[in-house]
Amino acid sequence: MSSTLFRTKKVEQSILDTEEPEHALKKSLSALDLTVFGVGVIIGTGIFVLTGKVAKENAGPAVALAFIVAGVVCGLAALCYAEFASTVPVAGSAYTFSYASLGELPAWIIGWDLVLEFALGTAVVAVGWSGYVRSLLDNAGWHLPESLSGRDGATGFGFDILAAALVLALTVILVLGMKLSARVTTVVVAIKVAVVLIVIIAGAFFITADNYKPFIPKAQPQEAGSSIQSPLVQLMFGYTPTDFGVMGIFTAASVVFFAFIGFDVVATAAEETKNPQRDMPRGIIGSLIICTTLYVAVSIVVTGMQKYSELSIDAPLADAFKATGHPWYAGVISFGAAVGLTTVCLILLLGQTRVFFAMSRDGLLPRFFSVVHPKFKTPYRPTILLGVIIAILAGFTSLSELAELVNIGTLFAFVVVALGVVILRRTRPDLPRAFRTPLVPFIPILSVLASLWLMLNLPAETWIRFAVWMVLGFIVYFVYGRSHSRLGRSEEAGVGEAG
Ligand code: ALA
Repeated sequence: MSSTLFRTKKVEQSILDTEEPEHALKKSLSALDLTVFGVGVIIGTGIFVLTGKVAKENAGPAVALAFIVAGVVCGLAALCYAEFASTVPVAGSAYTFSYASLGELPAWIIGWDLVLEFALGTAVVAVGWSGYVRSLLDNAGWHLPESLSGRDGATGFGFDILAAALVLALTVILVLGMKLSARVTTVVVAIKVAVVLIVIIAGAFFITADNYKPFIPKAQPQEAGSSIQSPLVQLMFGYTPTDFGVMGIFTAASVVFFAFIGFDVVATAAEETKNPQRDMPRGIIGSLIICTTLYVAVSIVVTGMQKYSELSIDAPLADAFKATGHPWYAGVISFGAAVGLTTVCLILLLGQTRVFFAMSRDGLLPRFFSVVHPKFKTPYRPTILLGVIIAILAGFTSLSELAELVNIGTLFAFVVVALGVVILRRTRPDLPRAFRTPLVPFIPILSVLASLWLMLNLPAETWIRFAVWMVLGFIVYFVYGRSHSRLGRSEEAGVGEAG
């Protein structure tokens, strides 16, 4: 039995599968498209919303250091992702990579985990988007009824109609085709980056040096409450859990990590890339470097404009401008954030459907979902199914509840990918690798340890939720996936796809 659980799909077979006409996606993306794609999904709720919350509650002005910590963890993972994506250029990201290196069960686990990351990530960003749009509508004097403004503030029934409507509209765009969405993305990304630059450049003139004192606020015991909400690492080692101080920087890093999610999504578009061996690593690493630089600059400026303890939680970047007496800038920033978050949602949703598509093409989920649309060449069936589910989720969930769950899932995927690089080097040293991770196995091992460290800084509660999701995944695999696996069936028929 263990041999079937760890059966691997040959890399050549993975590439061949993508060439079957019925299941083929169009190859149209360049390195620049990928970088735009990456920046489009990376900059979002993380910097626009979470910065204020973690500066206020966990790190103070040292939130800039938290962004550096999270950026380093992502950089290490990016070096591993880039090798994998340039070696196994097929849809499905970490899922496909793991199938080729670690085996079917680990691949299933990672695929299931990515479904969590992308679906909940899309919902989180849609809710953040809706908040900014509501604030713009309020400025214009239009107020939505409380029951249609989301779960947070509502008494009794609360459904976030704007968030749900956004997800459904984006689903239609995705069904109509990749090219359309890439073009729309480019314009929106330009607006978003312009707004971030406005924050940095204009905000720099409104900095008060006193706001940086103390740069790393002294550690304080956390408010009494359920210990299940404390970082696991602090509980494990018997600390009295604290906010701020050096440990606070790591807690903050494990939350603002959300701001970096997305560079891994670039890898999910490998199959739609013209020259994945060359363009994938450029797209992934390029977008990560751009975003880390912008995040550190934004957080330094914002915590310099307003005392960290006074930053707003809902719209910290815009509100810091209001606090310094510049409401005009605040309006522009809110508008840019609302526009920018649209692409984040779009690309997360896209990544989500591609992983689902790849899992279905392999037979681990029903094959019904991997038939592409005859005219648009898009995997329309999983796109519609997931779009509707995520729209409902976005309508009924609150932002802070889910971001941490998304982070733990993504960090777990990083661990598997880093291990996969080491294993694939051993099992398939012969494969052409346009991009090679430097210093293997040192960098992948460091990447595993760094990702685990951030995971340990997430609350115990998040670990429990993650465990529940994974157990559910095991049940689906053993009840359906294992017996319907295309790889398993071809092995039984003696075709020998396995490596
Ligand atoms: N990195 C993306 C964001 O911050 C998911 O919204």
